[in-house]
Amino acid sequence: MEALVVDPAARAGLSIGSRPEPVPGRSQLVLEVAAFSLVDRDLRYAPGMLGPGEVWGFDAAGVVAVAAADGSGPPAGTHVVTVLPAPGAWARRIAVDSADVAILPDGVDAGTATALALPGISALQAVGVFGTLLGRRLLVTGASGAVGWYAVQLATRAGAHVVAAVRNHADSDALAEIGAAEIVTDLGQVSPPVDGVLDVVGGPALVRAFDLLTDGGTALAVGAVAGEPATFAPETIVSPRRRRIEGFWGRWPVGGDLDVLLDLLAAGRLRPQTSWHGGWQEIDEVANGLSTGVIRRRAVLELR
Ligand SMILES: NC(=O)c1ccc[n+]([C@@H]2O[C@H](COP(=O)([O-])OP(=O)(O)OC[C@H]3O[C@@H](n4cnc5c(N)ncnc54)[C@H](OP(=O)(O)O)[C@@H]3O)[C@@H](O)[C@H]2O)c1
Repeated sequence: MEALVVDPAARAGLSIGSRPEPVPGRSQLVLEVAAFSLVDRDLRYAPGMLGPGEVWGFDAAGVVAVAAADGSGPPAGTHVVTVLPAPGAWARRIAVDSADVAILPDGVDAGTATALALPGISALQAVGVFGTLLGRRLLVTGASGAVGWYAVQLATRAGAHVVAAVRNHADSDALAEIGAAEIVTDLGQVSPPVDGVLDVVGGPALVRAFDLLTDGGTALAVGAVAGEPATFAPETIVSPRRRRIEGFWGRWPVGGDLDVLLDLLAAGRLRPQTSWHGGWQEIDEVANGLSTGVIRRRAVLELR
């Protein structure tokens, strides 16, 4: 079976190689993959965390080739999307827990679904950590990124007043269109207090965002794209305002969360983030495009 494997000799560090066919457990189906997605950091993580010949990737969409033996999950021939709890999605066929798939509604294609899946479930679960958001002010950092893009929309739908923090002013119009109430390019522009922070940037941004929190507020650390330490002055943490920093990590199974996202998408109530689409044979061009910024966001690779 073909798979996109770690290949130190390849230009992108990845090439289409051969892997054994998946062997599903009783509650697992076999998915014939039509598309998966990747971002620039995947090109570092895959060769950095796996050995040659191993397979990275978490999201995939396609058709159920073999239904789960225990009768759970959809029958063969159903179009579905999944997010795996461990890497291995970049292959022709993968074994997937039936609880981790959602059926694609009419009109939602595999590429759109797979690009939405990982940032979508992350945003949905992260926004859920804040509980009732009606009328509350939520600061989302890295709002132009994939998790931020969906978090802004989901929090807005939940009734939050969302303050979207971005690096580039050019992203403002799109964020306003999807519901952000305020858009800032510097956290110094945010008037305190905010009731919650959903942070994907980390480092100094987390420190500054934390200081904007109201008494009892939570800063949810979802990502750390800045790659810098977060250094808190003692008087920032020890304060009459009892604020918390909480680490976030996705929870499985994810089939139910994917259902929610796909329903919103199909109903036109969630706008997908634009992504690049091409064939998986184009991995070298994709890697080059992601590293040079020509491909700015997620790349969807179709298995043609
Ligand atoms: N904990 C979890 O379970 C979980 C789940 C999903 C994702 N994550 C993590 O969350 C982070 C974001 O994921 P994503 O898919 O949204 O990534 P993404 O699409 O690449 O977006 C990254 C965002 O951060 C901004 N950014 C990048 N570097 C920055 C810097 N140095 N200073 C300020 N802003 C910066 C980007 O701005 P530009 O648009 O201007 O480039 C963009 O808004 C990643 O670290 C990812 O690993 C964690």
